Amino acid sequence: MHPRTSDVLVVGGGIIGLVTAWRTAQRGLRVAVVDPEPGGGAAQVAAGMLAAVTELHYGEETLLGLNLESARRYPRFVAELREASGGMDVGHRSCGTLAVALDADDRAHLRELHALQQRSGLESQWLTGRECRRLEPMLAPGVRGGLRVDGDHQVDPRRLTAALVAACERSGVTVHRAWAERLVVSRERAAGVVLDDGTELAAGQVVLAAGSLSGRLGGVPDEVLPPVRPVKGQVLRLSVPPAYAPFLSRTVRAVVRGSHVYLVPRENGELVVGATSEELGWDTTVTAGGVYELLRDAHELVPGITELPLTETRAGLRPGSPDNAPLLGPTALPGLHLATGHYRNGVLLTPVTGDVMATVLTTGELPEEARAFAPARFGSASPATSASPASSSPSLSPAGVS
Ligand code: GLY
Repeated sequence: MHPRTSDVLVVGGGIIGLVTAWRTAQRGLRVAVVDPEPGGGAAQVAAGMLAAVTELHYGEETLLGLNLESARRYPRFVAELREASGGMDVGHRSCGTLAVALDADDRAHLRELHALQQRSGLESQWLTGRECRRLEPMLAPGVRGGLRVDGDHQVDPRRLTAALVAACERSGVTVHRAWAERLVVSRERAAGVVLDDGTELAAGQVVLAAGSLSGRLGGVPDEVLPPVRPVKGQVLRLSVPPAYAPFLSRTVRAVVRGSHVYLVPRENGELVVGATSEELGWDTTVTAGGVYELLRDAHELVPGITELPLTETRAGLRPGSPDNAPLLGPTALPGLHLATGHYRNGVLLTPVTGDVMATVLTTGELPEEARAFAPARFGSASPATSASPASSSPSLSPAGVS
């Protein structure tokens, strides 16, 4: 029997794989996605902050450019996705963000961030503690100051994922609900994958977009394996009863004793609290310590949180890369592309990733905005040197915060 063929085969059906598939199918190529649970993965855990400005870190100025470009594309992306999915709303909310400080150390940290944002030409406004509480009355009386960032918004990643699944289906993307076990290399070119049931799928080009698992597909030559590792994030979901609404009107975040905590209020009453950042390999256990620390820090910021029903606790795996930035585009193996390593910015980078991957897959050219993120920047880095020693997953298997 001849293997089933497509022009482009995407390994991984999380948001990055799905957006790559949808945008590429829109340009007329025959596209297939391989994933046992399309729409699963890190986006099911992620809070969905579009936080290019408040999540700016030293040394990530190049990444900032891509983050800002993707944030700029979001409104149009959401409108196009709504149409392509048959009218699905993804909870895009232009609510802005308030980053606050609880003590002198936090305030010094936030002042540094403000200075970095100003040097980078970003818009943010320093507020006193009183001004912060005027904006968000549920904030603790001890809040000493904050940064108002009106351009950092949010989207609901679960609804985003559902809309991408629908858009893929409606654009003719074929979905194979299976694990990809091995890359097929023929005449020194990526030529498809073998599934866990032995089925071979042939393709003109293969995209490895399997999040933190992207470095674990069998058959990929060492020199092109992406150096991604799993970075665990525990996230809580609470609900705001109508009597308490509006509890918060925008995303509120802080660094408490060195740990990041954020509270993301949805229009439907959900309040997402995240996230831990743990280098523990493939572990997705929700721990009492993780939940305790998130609630303790969130309670210091917003004491009323302890009144709210806790509806869900979950952990996911961010696909971390050595420079915290994604790997986009062709590898040294002809026919094999990467769309992975999005680390803390997977949801934010979804629009630009879809556009970049569709362009490179249809034209062979990596667009200008993505050149700094080509996989070649890591040379022959291999995940064996970067993944946690706790790694024991034999191949691609469930994962999933970005
Ligand atoms: N971008 C939020 C997180 O990774 O926790």
